[in-house]
Amino acid sequence: MRVILFSSQHYDRDSFLGEPLPAGVELHFQPARLNLDTVALADHHEVVCAFINDDLSAPVLEHLAKGGTRLIALRSAGYNHVDLAAARRLGLAVVRVPAYSPHAVAEHAVALILALNRRLHRAYNRTRDGDFSLHGLTGFDLVGKTVGVVGTGQIGATFARIMAGFGCRLVAYDPFPNPQVQALGARYVSLPELLAEAQIISLHCPLTQDSKHLINARSLAHMQPGAMLINTGRGGLVDTPALIDALKEGQLGYLGLDVYEEEAQLFFEDRSDLPLQDDVLARLLTFPNVIITAHQAFLTREALAAIAGTTLANIAAWANGLPQNLVEG
Ligand code: NAI
Repeated sequence: MRVILFSSQHYDRDSFLGEPLPAGVELHFQPARLNLDTVALADHHEVVCAFINDDLSAPVLEHLAKGGTRLIALRSAGYNHVDLAAARRLGLAVVRVPAYSPHAVAEHAVALILALNRRLHRAYNRTRDGDFSLHGLTGFDLVGKTVGVVGTGQIGATFARIMAGFGCRLVAYDPFPNPQVQALGARYVSLPELLAEAQIISLHCPLTQDSKHLINARSLAHMQPGAMLINTGRGGLVDTPALIDALKEGQLGYLGLDVYEEEAQLFFEDRSDLPLQDDVLARLLTFPNVIITAHQAFLTREALAAIAGTTLANIAAWANGLPQNLVEG
């Protein structure tokens, strides 16, 4: 069975080749992103293995189905980039990796909080330049601060546990409260209440029609002046131009992003010798109180091994007629 892995990087090759290969599976690593221009590369591959910025819209899925593909094996937990109705219509099964390491993403969110608060990005550059002054580097104690967790599934709950360890108070917003998070002392409140109470807000919910632009000009105005916003969820959870206005006014005091609504054309590539065409991202990168990472929260050795292991197990289970981790449309 031929499997093509789109958007595969060196670390994907290493992690997949580090796992036992199910019998009859042949892996073809393809660095290109899947889209209408590259979809022909998938012809005669029964399985297409895709990542988060691959295009799995109806026209691409139609081409895949015609070319002989029968399974889309996502190397991600999120599936907001798949047209599930089209997949169902075309008879394409979709499987995903529901959990690979909630710790990887939760710990990255905490890394962004600590770096922003203690201005590590500025201190790093300063000391390397022989500047040992401390002005502008004042942080705050995390103990006793209120942290708002939006979405308390696997990642949100892990994040909440770490922040409880810092001695933070927790408020949470999720349509389905998690008893493990309640056991940490978290109070479930409405989103406006969470925004009003928390000094640090971290987004851990999926991107859906309901959660699109959950953080917008109105919700930013509900926040405490100078609050910190962390987004390791999906770029579309926030209205990015509204963030720029809030940063300029000082309403938003700190911003840590691992995801960006328009990241598909940019992230995972070295574009350092090209002019940055995205003016919104370019403006965000000018603020001293903003840190942007290029969707790397998942990138730990443990998470990569789990992604590879689960994806190969998903493919084998589907081939044996007992599909697991199916995404139902
Ligand atoms: P999960 O499914 O375990 O938890 C999601 C939680 O969000 C659930 O409790 C659900 O009830 C809640 N939720 C749904 N809609 C909501 C809304 N509108 N407002 C508040 N809560 C809502 O998912 P998990 O594994 O915790 O992942 C969360 C998200 O993190 C994923 O959907 C994905 O977008 C993102 N992610 C980001 C990664 C990165 O590298 N930056 C890697 C992996 C996931």
